[in-house]
Amino acid sequence: MKNKINNLKIINTDILIIGGGGAGLRAAIEAYDNRINNAKIIIVSKSLPGKAHTVMAEGGIAASLGDVDDKDNWKVHFSDTFKEGVYLGNYKMIEILVKEAPERVYELEKYGALFDRTKEGKIMQRAFGAHTYKRLCHIGDKTGMEIIRVLEDQVLKRNIEFLDELQITKIFKHENKIIGAIGLDLKSGNFILINCRAIILASGGCGRLYKTTSNSLETTGDGLAMAYDIGCELIDMEMVQFHPTGMVYPLGVKGLLVTEGIRGEGGILLNNKNERFMKKYSPKRMELDARDVVARAIYNEIKIGNGTEHNGVYLDISHKGASFIKKKLPAMYEQFKEFADIDITKQKMEVGPTVHYHMGGIKTNPGTCETNINGLFAAGEVAGGLHGANRLGGNSLADILVFGRRAGLFCSKYINENKRANFDIMSNLLLKQQINLEIRRINNYLSLYSFKSLKNKNNNNLVVYELLDLLKSTMNENVEIIRSEKSLKNALKVINSIKNQLKNIKVNGTTKYNRGLLACLELENELKIANCIIKSAIKRTESRGAHFRSDFPKTSKLWKKNIICKKQNNSLKLTLVKVPELSKNLKKILAD
Ligand code: FUM
Repeated sequence: MKNKINNLKIINTDILIIGGGGAGLRAAIEAYDNRINNAKIIIVSKSLPGKAHTVMAEGGIAASLGDVDDKDNWKVHFSDTFKEGVYLGNYKMIEILVKEAPERVYELEKYGALFDRTKEGKIMQRAFGAHTYKRLCHIGDKTGMEIIRVLEDQVLKRNIEFLDELQITKIFKHENKIIGAIGLDLKSGNFILINCRAIILASGGCGRLYKTTSNSLETTGDGLAMAYDIGCELIDMEMVQFHPTGMVYPLGVKGLLVTEGIRGEGGILLNNKNERFMKKYSPKRMELDARDVVARAIYNEIKIGNGTEHNGVYLDISHKGASFIKKKLPAMYEQFKEFADIDITKQKMEVGPTVHYHMGGIKTNPGTCETNINGLFAAGEVAGGLHGANRLGGNSLADILVFGRRAGLFCSKYINENKRANFDIMSNLLLKQQINLEIRRINNYLSLYSFKSLKNKNNNNLVVYELLDLLKSTMNENVEIIRSEKSLKNALKVINSIKNQLKNIKVNGTTKYNRGLLACLELENELKIANCIIKSAIKRTESRGAHFRSDFPKTSKLWKKNIICKKQNNSLKLTLVKVPELSKNLKKILAD
């Protein structure tokens, strides 16, 4: 058997971490600190270090330190998180999250994060939607960015290898065990085969499925799609979070996050009649209700004609004065000044809902982050089940640190206990065929490579970006804050048609730094994930948290169920699983 494939470079490692955001970096640190026999760890990222959706969690990390409100503790944090996830979240994961979050905050401090301080020198905590107490530990409005900075520092200190601009396209398993992955090195255009014994997926969510999103360009659901392809179970995929406040103009920055920290620091929402409309929707909590409630309220105000010139509502914090705003919200001040020529110390902002987070994702063991594939771990936004039907702001930064650490810890345990050598993928005929197929799948998008495309040159005018645009606007319009069977079925039709059209797409250029080629690969992934989201949303015939069905507007007790997506015989199978009963102890906490 010929053992070489042209342009294929082979790398060996013990642990491969896919994703260079907060969860991936935290996992790498823990895996490194717990490894034995110098086990090798590699982080790969399709992008550059520091470019991760983590930076878009601006307002803070939720942890019940009690530094500002001394009544706060893990029990209240548990109750807030479980209730606001509308009883769908995995209670074991939530318990771990809320108990371990404070430790992770203190650890960040040790790593050098410069948290804002109270007068007494404690960590400053701010209010956020549906958190009972002031709980969000923050660094102005740049919390996520500071977290990435200190975690990167720790990764550099340990000399952990970081391969950037490497797009992993397929994961390989053998006898239900992880054995490696293949990817495209964007810089050289070469394919890279990575033999490994375990993978930690920390590749983030899929916000870019939508046109209006706060997510960075990278967030195209690649990890979810690759996991789905090898038979991994995905949970509650219909649960997409719309953050109430994103920028609405200029068009180039539509969707860009406007931190909840503004409302946490006293910002108010107004409609075009200057009414504080949250009085109608949530008289007690007002602007600081859960995200699904505030996002739906804004959506409704716009629909009934109370919106602003640019189809948003107003957010105003100017009453707090310039020095307060510049100190507490410096990034927001800069953002509006630079992009919209608005001085938020004097003027109102215009804002509207933007897709921000995916509560659905890979189903994992609550404590160890293992998936149903041996040696595959998942942490951060790519994993699902923790936040239920609605995530509280600040809980995702806690999530990436708590579960990033746990994924690293249990992955290194797995490696330490399973002493097998790397499986030589190239020595297995069937797997070698799979590699060839994968390379062909990618090359097939290149017009250079394909005889068929030369023949069809004149009648194939489709451009991948048009299909991408169609997908995003379809998701925006049909799988939005309020959905119905009709809108979801419409979306499904379009998705299927895009899938068919994608088969005929060709792009110019080679595999080297080819944005068009990447768009094709990402679109393939996005279509798979859109299919899971839409079919799960059709299945859930009730409204719960972020999933609101106009044809089933009530929350139903019968629907205290998780929806599991799994690929079987090449098609999507949905299964319903009852949400597990809480322990007596936790039930008591909820009742208190
Ligand atoms: O609004 C924000 O700063 C976002 C935080 C989060 O999503 O956790």
